[in-house]
Amino acid sequence: MTVDPTSLDILHYPDPALRAKAEPVADVTDEVRRVASRMIELMRIAEGIGLAAPQVGLPWRLFVCHVPPMEGRSPASDPAGATNQPTVYVNPVLSDPTGPVEPADEGCLSIPDVVGRVLRPPIITISAIDLEGLPFTRTAHGLLARCWQHECDHLDGVLILDRMAQLDRIRNRRLIRELERA
Ligand code: NI
Repeated sequence: MTVDPTSLDILHYPDPALRAKAEPVADVTDEVRRVASRMIELMRIAEGIGLAAPQVGLPWRLFVCHVPPMEGRSPASDPAGATNQPTVYVNPVLSDPTGPVEPADEGCLSIPDVVGRVLRPPIITISAIDLEGLPFTRTAHGLLARCWQHECDHLDGVLILDRMAQLDRIRNRRLIRELERA
């Protein structure tokens, strides 16, 4: 099956593709590179900081992420708090969560307007493959660490709806119902 990247668009909850468990990418081909490029474009248009392949209907273990540098967020710090440019992570694996979990509000491009508080460890390491097929390992804190965890959740069919505080689920109930009816 060949994917036409121009046909890809961001799917919204409750699309069943968002609940599928994604499969490892066997080989970083030109098709994978074209899809990643389209995902970066979609992420930028939607003004998001991350987008996972299941969100465009592909059951692939791949996501893109860009947390631009701002005050208190530096790509050069150790662990990093931002990215210099949009980055692609193929077959990502998280490890070494560090520190007590911290709450922060999260949204999702697949669940428009819904925001809820999610607990995550503040520092985490990711190992993945880049678009040249080369492995890399990085450690991040703050929003970047949170973004990695949110996107890796997508690869297992997990959404912020599953992770957010119960009070936030109740607060967002009307929006969630509207999406389910759409
Ligand atoms: Ni999301």
